[in-house]
Amino acid sequence: MSDIPFNRAFVVGTELDCVRQALANSHISGDGPFTRKCHALLEELLGARKALLTTSGTHALEMAALLLDVGPGDEIIIPSFTFVSTVNAFVLRGARPVFVDIRPDTLNLDERLLEQFITSRTKAIVPVHYAGVGCEMDVISQVAGRSGVHVVEDNAHGLLGKYRGRFLGTFGCLAAQSFHETKNFTCGEGGALVINDPQYVERAEILREKGTNRSRFFRGEIDKYTWVDIGSSYLPTDILAAFLYAQLEARNQIQSSRRRIWEYYCKNLLAWAKEHGVRLPFIPSHCEHPFHMFYILLPSLESRQALIAHLKRRGIHAVFHYLPLHLSDMGRRYGGKEGGCPITEDVSARLLRLPFYNKLNETDLDRIVNAIIEFKEI
Ligand SMILES: Cc1ncc(COP(=O)(O)O)c(C=O)c1O
Repeated sequence: MSDIPFNRAFVVGTELDCVRQALANSHISGDGPFTRKCHALLEELLGARKALLTTSGTHALEMAALLLDVGPGDEIIIPSFTFVSTVNAFVLRGARPVFVDIRPDTLNLDERLLEQFITSRTKAIVPVHYAGVGCEMDVISQVAGRSGVHVVEDNAHGLLGKYRGRFLGTFGCLAAQSFHETKNFTCGEGGALVINDPQYVERAEILREKGTNRSRFFRGEIDKYTWVDIGSSYLPTDILAAFLYAQLEARNQIQSSRRRIWEYYCKNLLAWAKEHGVRLPFIPSHCEHPFHMFYILLPSLESRQALIAHLKRRGIHAVFHYLPLHLSDMGRRYGGKEGGCPITEDVSARLLRLPFYNKLNETDLDRIVNAIIEFKEI
């Protein structure tokens, strides 16, 4: 019996046709025909003002920090329970992260705590839609609006997820998407910056093109391009855009595979979870999630570790997730200490992510679920 990994890169089958087309187009640097197709598709799908492919979700977040002119003296409100890039993008510009705890139900930034952390230095709030389940954007937007603070959504997990019927990634002035191998749609490494506030569009194109107005030049709007601002190279090759386009085109097929897996876990683990004090993901009725991951919350760190070992002995690779950022070496330099974000600390020790990739079939899923149900050390 072969092992069941945690993740396996998914290939739809049409990627190579698109890549071949990109080669035939003789435009394999950035912003070629496939990049433009991805932009148009994302903009139409989300109803966003502008989408720009980037070389990673990390780089989309870095672009957001540049666009907002984040700098020394600024504070950024961020959940401690997130990936390091969420915070690093802003710390790179010299900002100080202010770590806020998460809600115990959705594991998203706890909007009820926000007000007390806002100061005259707060530049932005960065909600992370954990597992693609929407943060409470109504309250977050209200608090941000009242305080004159920007909202940048980290929507790395949540493309196609919705909050009160509206797509995640369309609430903040800016939002970051990731197309890393572990995400629902991928080109290996990639991302996108979604721009909802039109005032950032022109400068975003410049920052992404090494601080030049080359995008305008390519559109024939100016007769030469030059250095006009700071910037870097955040645009991916059109070969990757071609790969990604094939995946985005197959979004319904991909989403129905992921839905099948998520619902299988949910249905078949429900009784066991109830009996053993294990919590399954909570999806508020006003959120639609994109079936990005399936996690369970064990009663303790010890039971979580024992279940990881139990599954590993059966060739099944289940993994923990984020360690609290406020307790990391870097987080402590910004004043993070034990008890600073109690829900984050508790959840991080008990959370387990189950194998989740599109090709998981019923036999694999049965094997995983049965192995979990056999587990007695709770
Ligand atoms: C919440 C979150 N934000 C940002 C990122 C960074 O995305 P990327 O790996 O595309 O740089 C990740 C990556 O997994 C993530 O989980």
